[in-house]
Amino acid sequence: MTDLTFTHTEASRLPAAERLAILEDPGFGKRFTDHMVSIIWDREIGWHDAEVVPYGPIPMDPASSVLHYGQEIFEGMKAYRHPNGDIVTFRPEANAKRLNESARRLALPELPVDLFVRAVNELIAIDAEWVPRGSDQSLYLRPFMISDESFLGVRAAERARFMVIASPAGPYFTGGVKPVSIWLSESHSRAGHGGTGAAKCGGNYAASLLPTRVAQEHGCAQVLFTDSNTPDTIDELGGMNLFLVRADGTLITPRLNGNILAGITRDSLIRLAKDHGREVEEREVTVSEWQAGVADGSIVEAFACGTAAVITPIARLESERGVLVDFGDQAPGELTMSLREELTGIQFGTVEDRFGWVSRVVTGGTTE
Ligand code: PLP
Ligand code: COI
Repeated sequence: MTDLTFTHTEASRLPAAERLAILEDPGFGKRFTDHMVSIIWDREIGWHDAEVVPYGPIPMDPASSVLHYGQEIFEGMKAYRHPNGDIVTFRPEANAKRLNESARRLALPELPVDLFVRAVNELIAIDAEWVPRGSDQSLYLRPFMISDESFLGVRAAERARFMVIASPAGPYFTGGVKPVSIWLSESHSRAGHGGTGAAKCGGNYAASLLPTRVAQEHGCAQVLFTDSNTPDTIDELGGMNLFLVRADGTLITPRLNGNILAGITRDSLIRLAKDHGREVEEREVTVSEWQAGVADGSIVEAFACGTAAVITPIARLESERGVLVDFGDQAPGELTMSLREELTGIQFGTVEDRFGWVSRVVTGGTTE
């Protein structure tokens, strides 16, 4: 246990009527709660100055290393409101561990897992009224870490700042669980061997923005990236992992090959599917195999998954070559939807949490 205590500075809170109006239809990542968490690290002292403060701009020197060399990592997780009013998080230690894996790759300091969890819980507790009550709504939490040293030499920074901000969220894709079209990027890669693909760092997302714009110009919601050396081999989407479903109910997903993010939703779905006796193949998956499988009827569904996207059915795959895969009907697949219902049921407290994934942060309005 880290014995760092958090100091609190109360914000002047948004009036309840305004907050409730935002919670009616929060969208994704547009509005932020009243507070945020900040913890400072430097090489001499380690982690210190843990604070819960009013949400707002952070002081930053223009020579701050993050602004020049992009030494930044982040996490994405959600707080859910249960029918009895309890507020829970989902596998927060997994996010804490993944942040530390990203920290190692980006030469940032690791944050003790218990401190990560406490930081997130502090914010949820103080801004509990921001956790929406509507169906498929949650409070999206964005823990992140930046290098924060005023120095232009290219080396790992000696000072960093960890923060948590929170934003009420509805469905990531407008239109709810409507199947989406995705765009196969054949001219840009997101990650290469030995690169930062397995880390959750801002640079990976910056690299995905141009191909994402191309995707959107073609009416597609996300970009599918393949391996930079073997372009038929599927890695993942810009912000989600990918699964294919075979007619016999087997799930197929690219193995964690060092280039893709080890999604916590991905891992949870693999465990749920195996628990139901389904086969799950984690291996190399190719676009050709997907095309051939849909053509001969052996692959019947595809979906994207991640914290923000939850589970989103994929209807079509397109590229500069035209439509590569088309599932034809626009209805979400049966297995896709049953996995979605079970996972969200656990998160929202309507399905038994048989894996112990859910952590209670606030009990019926009172902080634990
Ligand atoms: N892959 C990428 C590139 C992502 O940004 C995300 C989202 O966090 C995921 C996969 C899914 O990860 P998780 O299920 O932990 O949210
Ligand atoms: C998440 O799902 O938490 C992510 O970070 C994905 C991002 C593209 C919103």
